[in-house]
Amino acid sequence: MSTLQNKRILLGVTGGIAAYKSAELIRGLREQGAEVVVVMTEAAQEFITPLTLQALSGNPVHTSLLDPAAEAAMGHIELARWADRILVAPASADFMARLAGGMGNDLLTTLCLATRAPVMLAPAMNQAMWDNPTTQYNLTQLQSTLGGIYGPGSGSQACGEIGPGRMLEPLELVERLAASFSTGQLTGQHVVITAGPTREPLDPVRYLSNYSSGKMGYALANAAIEAGAQVTLISGPCQQPTPERVNMVMVQSAEQMLDASLTAAANADIFIGAAAVCDYRPMQVSHEKLKKQGDGALTLTLTPNPDIIATVAQRFPNIFTAAFAAETENLLKYARAKRLRKGVHCIIANDVSDQSIGFNSDQNAVTLIDGDSDTQLDQRSKTQLARDLINLLAQKNKQAKDTTP
Ligand code: PMT
Repeated sequence: MSTLQNKRILLGVTGGIAAYKSAELIRGLREQGAEVVVVMTEAAQEFITPLTLQALSGNPVHTSLLDPAAEAAMGHIELARWADRILVAPASADFMARLAGGMGNDLLTTLCLATRAPVMLAPAMNQAMWDNPTTQYNLTQLQSTLGGIYGPGSGSQACGEIGPGRMLEPLELVERLAASFSTGQLTGQHVVITAGPTREPLDPVRYLSNYSSGKMGYALANAAIEAGAQVTLISGPCQQPTPERVNMVMVQSAEQMLDASLTAAANADIFIGAAAVCDYRPMQVSHEKLKKQGDGALTLTLTPNPDIIATVAQRFPNIFTAAFAAETENLLKYARAKRLRKGVHCIIANDVSDQSIGFNSDQNAVTLIDGDSDTQLDQRSKTQLARDLINLLAQKNKQAKDTTP
């Protein structure tokens, strides 16, 4: 099953007996790591209470377009922007008709109109209502405009009849929704990503390191998985949750990261260096805890670490390589020079002097530089930025392969 980790799902519930399955659906979505906000139509509340769905989703349930309190907390336009997907399950015949007609006469239809996220419907209704030519006409309209119509299934119905119109089971809906996030752009490709800081030991209790949290590299790993890649994530010590379905390699030092990178690169298609690798390590590592030497200064001698991504680029010229450049001044100038020095296909320039982006923040803004052009990606969440970067890197890798004789 694909993962829904960190995905924002707006679950619309309309009036129908299958509304009771929404409870199970919310649990399934949350078990896959999704954040769920529920919006109920008036009719849905006759079948299941907002309180139940609020308890299961862990978020307030929205029910009205004209509720000043709810609007003050998160207005409907904000909610429409918040969602990565809107899933309406169950979607009644009435709801489908209103949506097909472009109506925005309640909160849920308004959100479906206002969002840029794909909208998915899981229809559920009596089999005769499903077969009705008007419903089928509405279905045809919606098929061409929505992100997907899931089901309905066929079988015995709550009304005692048998036929099409049953809402798909919650587990199947979770799987279908998760699959909708996979672009398939990197199917069959092996992507190796380094992430987090390295730690360069000084003695058994001290090390040199930096502020990298691993957020950017782990977000890239998740995005590459979404795109269908096989992913090896080589990470320095950090607190990020291990993405599902990655081949995880934990390391401490730059030298260990180099070894792991060269092993993984042997059968890689794309290598992305998001790790903040320490450029230097203490020349000597003491086996015993260093003792304070009176009140005088302590002088450390540092020796350069190997350049991991430059080594990968040199030894495996067929791999598409993308480095990051963390700079505090002359961002683009230094990044361009770094790209050439390291011999990588492209470099992602990251202004780490701005604390709202870069190290340890949840947001980032970068400029992707290759030999041809610059692509600026303005500030957004690292999760979204990672998806956009993976999309760009997949395209650039394809272009590079297509032009290689
Ligand atoms: O981890 P986060 O808190 O989310 O922060 C993200 C980030 C700021 C760490 C990330 O976006 C980033 O910019 N990573 C690169 C940090 C860095 O060390 O940049 P650099 O300019 O020093 O290195 C340039 C490139 O060479 C990087 O791809 C780096 O992984 C690589 N490198 C550097 C030194 C070295 N010895 N070997 C390398 O492979």
